[in-house]
Amino acid sequence: MKKENVNRVVLIGAGAVGSSYAFAMLNQAVAEEFVIIDLNEDKATGDAMDLNHGKVFAPNPTRTWAGTYQDCKDAEIVCISAGANQQPGETRLDLVKKNLAIFQKIVSEVMASGFNGIFIVATNPVDILTYATWKFSGLPKERVIGSGTILDSSRFRYLLGEYFDVTPSNIHANIIGEHGDTELPVWSHATVGGVPILELVERHEEYKVEDLEEIFINVRDAAYHIIEKKGATYYGIAMGLTRMTKAILNNENVILTVSAYLNGEYGTEDVYMGVPAIVNRKGIRDIVEVSLNEKEQQLFDHSAAVLKDILTANFE
Ligand code: 2OP
Repeated sequence: MKKENVNRVVLIGAGAVGSSYAFAMLNQAVAEEFVIIDLNEDKATGDAMDLNHGKVFAPNPTRTWAGTYQDCKDAEIVCISAGANQQPGETRLDLVKKNLAIFQKIVSEVMASGFNGIFIVATNPVDILTYATWKFSGLPKERVIGSGTILDSSRFRYLLGEYFDVTPSNIHANIIGEHGDTELPVWSHATVGGVPILELVERHEEYKVEDLEEIFINVRDAAYHIIEKKGATYYGIAMGLTRMTKAILNNENVILTVSAYLNGEYGTEDVYMGVPAIVNRKGIRDIVEVSLNEKEQQLFDHSAAVLKDILTANFE
């Protein structure tokens, strides 16, 4: 039995992303309890042992063990990172069929435990699988959240930070839409310390629109480049998932660009997509609707249409 007032997070899928998330979670001491579930029980057990051996070096000990779906009953958060991942040359959307079947099974097992918390979904194509988790679980939309474009926005802020030589936390700039090939940058609201980036480019000769375009292309294609080099991406996304988990458990009301259910916001409905949203203990408190310019809205609509086509083909 779980003690009262103890935060429990369950991870399902101890692949590279899941294990990196576990490592980040323990190092930042985000939860009191951390449970690892994997089809490969030895991998889950080995990870739990390995992580427990480092506990003395963490800011706080996190009770960690390899568990079963029963452990989800008392969990505040279940984070799913299980499933097939992209092979070189494959897009995220190529993974739909394989991973939908896996998710149907996982989500029904989690719900059968009596779970009544918040799902965080990381597996690709994340917007589709977040929608699937919402459908399969029957939980309210605000309690099913995908990692969406949290990593893309972080990549964007990092590269803009390098370009303007300013620390990324002082760059406010978002990538929204599909976590994938149709995502878009919101240049119209991107700022450095409150100064619009588009204004900076107009005012200073050393900054160029072409450079900004290249930065966005590098963000959009970052995963392909990393996959080519080392087969998979995991540290960045794991840190993003840890950030989301903290925001929920600490009731932060922080704005993160995550995959949220749109019900008319941004002129779109019945789809999960990456948008800025206020995240707290209840999950998604509100979607932040920034006014897009015409070009951005067109790109967003296109991104939504691509995702909706896939949803229609798989859910109706
Ligand atoms: C990433 O963007 C592959 O979705 C993963 O790193």
